[in-house]
Amino acid sequence: MRILSVTSEMYPLIKTGGLADVIGSLPTALAEIGIDMRVILPGYPQVKERIGETDGKGTKIELSMGSAVLKKTQVNGITIWILDMPGLFDRETGPYADAEGHDHPDNWKRFAALSQAAVALVADPPDGWVPDIAHSHDWQAGLVPAYFHAAGLKTATVYTIHNIAFPGSFPANIFPELNLPDEFFAMDGLEFHGDVSFLKAGLWYADAITTVSPTYAEELQRPDHGMGFDGVIRAHEKGMTGILNGIDTDEWNPETDQLIERNYSARAIAGRDVNRQALSTAFALDGERALLSVVSRLTEQKGIDLILEAADALLERDLNLLILGTGDDAIEAMARDVAARNPGRVGLHIGYDEALAHRIQAGTDALLVPSRFEPCGLTQLCALRYGAVPIVAPTGGLVDSVIDANAAALARKVATGIHLREVSLSGIIAGVDRMLDLRSDSKVWQRIKRNAMATDVSWHASAAEYAALYQSLAGGRGRASRKTVQTSRNAI
Ligand code: ADP
Ligand code: GLC
Repeated sequence: MRILSVTSEMYPLIKTGGLADVIGSLPTALAEIGIDMRVILPGYPQVKERIGETDGKGTKIELSMGSAVLKKTQVNGITIWILDMPGLFDRETGPYADAEGHDHPDNWKRFAALSQAAVALVADPPDGWVPDIAHSHDWQAGLVPAYFHAAGLKTATVYTIHNIAFPGSFPANIFPELNLPDEFFAMDGLEFHGDVSFLKAGLWYADAITTVSPTYAEELQRPDHGMGFDGVIRAHEKGMTGILNGIDTDEWNPETDQLIERNYSARAIAGRDVNRQALSTAFALDGERALLSVVSRLTEQKGIDLILEAADALLERDLNLLILGTGDDAIEAMARDVAARNPGRVGLHIGYDEALAHRIQAGTDALLVPSRFEPCGLTQLCALRYGAVPIVAPTGGLVDSVIDANAAALARKVATGIHLREVSLSGIIAGVDRMLDLRSDSKVWQRIKRNAMATDVSWHASAAEYAALYQSLAGGRGRASRKTVQTSRNAI
């Protein structure tokens, strides 16, 4: 089976969040079970710099927004097509925004070009490779199913939502420039509240839709999490499949990790203490207190503002706080303030630092993830692998990956972490108190850490689920008809 993944990010070439990690590791896991995987992504300057030389001069293609060149290369054994279109992608800042954090005004054109390039690759394959499925991700690749549908391609489409909070909405006046049939701009199409929504295009035209955890798949079908798309999702003939993300367990392996002070395993867990000590020393944290850490984008989604509001109360407990993250200016400022007021008790690194993320996972006692919503979450998977006990919000992939240390789980000796009862100041404080209580019984605490480390956070099971989904669609476009949809627009 041949699968073409269409994405705006892929680790280690370009990353702003977990999507990059997923595309950096899932294709390899799929290739290992015999699937012929390829990826197409934009040729941002960072990507071009990292890949260096590509095979030959590339293939010229014509898109409605101009000419482009597709360049072929290999990353970790996977064939990658880079969409080289300097006018659209040569921006020295992030992939979506300028240095001030403002979205590039032509983002619609940039990512429509990515989707059109996927069509070009399939309709007229430069090397004869035709995929059975085009699998596209998030709003940036949401137009892929629409263009495939419009072009009448046989290749079936799968669309995966990693985060519905980014709908890829643009004013209706861009529609004529997308080069799609007029009738696509409709409620039974990619129109959403009068705008063009790339995400809705993916949901509407894909033969199958998936998201990154079973719980988020259910949440997305409810008005409180669906962000207006719940009706469209409920109406999809095949339903929404939730497949939990995995992580690269070679890159995240405490037994071999070169980025941490001391390697360790569940059997020889004492090695963790060396990492813990090194971390405390590096951040000048005093005492033998419990170490509670955060590795996260500093955004409202992640609930970091709540941790900072709860900081004074938390620091009345016998614990130190360590935060690694970058994101919203206001939350960064709050974090700086908390750190400045609590020298020796709060460590802070504002920025993106992969190596420090490894050191924190290897040394912290617990990792706090109080997200207001969380499609999957990867930090808690890394935490489990490293024996950092995750304290997580009761939402999305967080509940699917962490077993709460409630009385039943403790009695059965299967607990791997703590679920907050609710995402609020008091919920966070209560969750942290439960952690401190569990930690005070070293036998129970060791058991939780060992259970965490024994959790299968690899792609093994989930890659098999993707393979089964692909198999069910291979052989042509599967979605015979589309139901009439009760969109939230109707509901309003
Ligand atoms: P999201 O994609 O919503 O940001 P995920 O948990 O799915 O959240 O993925 C984020 C990934 O990036 C995780 O592997 C996390 O550990 C990592 N990460 C987040 N912030 C930082 C940071 N400041 N430095 C290093 N790694 C980070
Ligand atoms: C998004 C989500 C996160 C998920 C990641 C990868 O960034 O916010 O929960 O883990 O995508 O699927």
